[in-house]
Amino acid sequence: MSYNGVFKDESRLDINYLPTCILHRDCESRLLLEFFSFLTRCPGRMAQRVIVTGDVGTGKTALCQTFGKYISIEIGKKGTKFRYIHVNCREYRGNLAQILHQVVTVFQQNFPARGFSAEEILKTLLQILEEEQVFIILTLDEFDSLIEKEGSDTVYKLTRLQEMQQGKTQRISFIFIQRSLESLKNLDDSTQSTLQRNIVNLERYGCESLVDILTDRVKSAFELATVSEDVVGLIAELACTETGNARFGIELLWRSGKYADARDAQQVEPEFVRQAVSAIIPSVKRSELDDLGLHEKMLLLAIARFFKENKEAYATLAETEEAYSVICEEYDEEPYSHTQLWKYIQYFKQAGIINTKVGSTTLRGRSTMISLPSVPAKELEQQLYKLLTGVFR
Ligand SMILES: Nc1ncnc2c1ncn2[C@@H]1O[C@H](COP(=O)(O)OP(=O)(O)OP(=O)(O)O)[C@@H](O)[C@H]1O
Ligand SMILES: [Mg+2]
Repeated sequence: MSYNGVFKDESRLDINYLPTCILHRDCESRLLLEFFSFLTRCPGRMAQRVIVTGDVGTGKTALCQTFGKYISIEIGKKGTKFRYIHVNCREYRGNLAQILHQVVTVFQQNFPARGFSAEEILKTLLQILEEEQVFIILTLDEFDSLIEKEGSDTVYKLTRLQEMQQGKTQRISFIFIQRSLESLKNLDDSTQSTLQRNIVNLERYGCESLVDILTDRVKSAFELATVSEDVVGLIAELACTETGNARFGIELLWRSGKYADARDAQQVEPEFVRQAVSAIIPSVKRSELDDLGLHEKMLLLAIARFFKENKEAYATLAETEEAYSVICEEYDEEPYSHTQLWKYIQYFKQAGIINTKVGSTTLRGRSTMISLPSVPAKELEQQLYKLLTGVFR
């Protein structure tokens, strides 16, 4: 049988890919729908402004785009003309005229790119919406860049649009997407209060949510049985430490798959994940290893060797201690006590070199599982060998 690599459909891991299902955001989706439910009941009578906020990679963009798709269908069912328009402000360096131009071209493809001020374009947009009897939700993604570039005045005008339109049909609602609410502080009090009324806050993902999101993506992007549960767990843990960032997890998944393919491997092994991480974020600094004591180095070498020789994502404490005793023998050293090694493990964890989790309950009680998340085992082993040989020379 010919082997075509671990990917089934790599595009499912692309940054612009919109998943069919947004997991663990039910409450937030419902809240968003609730804010805009008037559009299915009495469009035109009011307009809405909502802020969607949350840290990097918490699903703000994905959530809003999925919501946009859904609500477009629902409003369409009522026979109302509606468009959901999503613009990333940073792509236009926060320039309002360019952003609005982008919006107008949804309706008039040939609208001239230059020669009109933001106000003029906005006026044109309102005219078009009126003529075509259409309602829109305009999502301004990475809204901070617009505030930065245009200042509070423009934002004030945008948020008060409906008040300037007294008596007329309200056709534009807004969603503003921002990582933090910090930049709102630069706005005047009344704009702030207008915006702060409707906030959808996306909390950082916890490890379990990330496992679900990644597992779902693995199913559609990878061939069957090429990514084990443990590997997904390892990546989820890493993404969780990286501020609960789903994008980071998905990128790691993709990159690890690339390393697997480069090696013609049948599976995405933990070592490929470590290589992927060390390519994205700097691994353990040489100086950090230099500062370790002799037995700390030997214990870490034991961990590195275990992971180099095993394809498991996790090592038990017993396995680690066993590998450590072998190394002690090699260097003719008396092994340290379990309690001392436990302290070292805690230190490695604090230093971010290893991760630990409590494993399933065994006959002897709950066991500690150790993983080496971000440094390739081979690289760590080599560095430690060098340092240890230095000592014994
Ligand atoms: N709940 C989820 N279910 C499925 N996929 C998700 C979920 N949340 C995020 N993702 C995926 O994670 C990646 C990052 O999400 P997204 O781009 O929406 O984050 P963001 O909050 O907009 O980040 P940023 O602040 O950097 O713009 C995307 O590929 C998205 O599809
Ligand atoms: Mg985004």
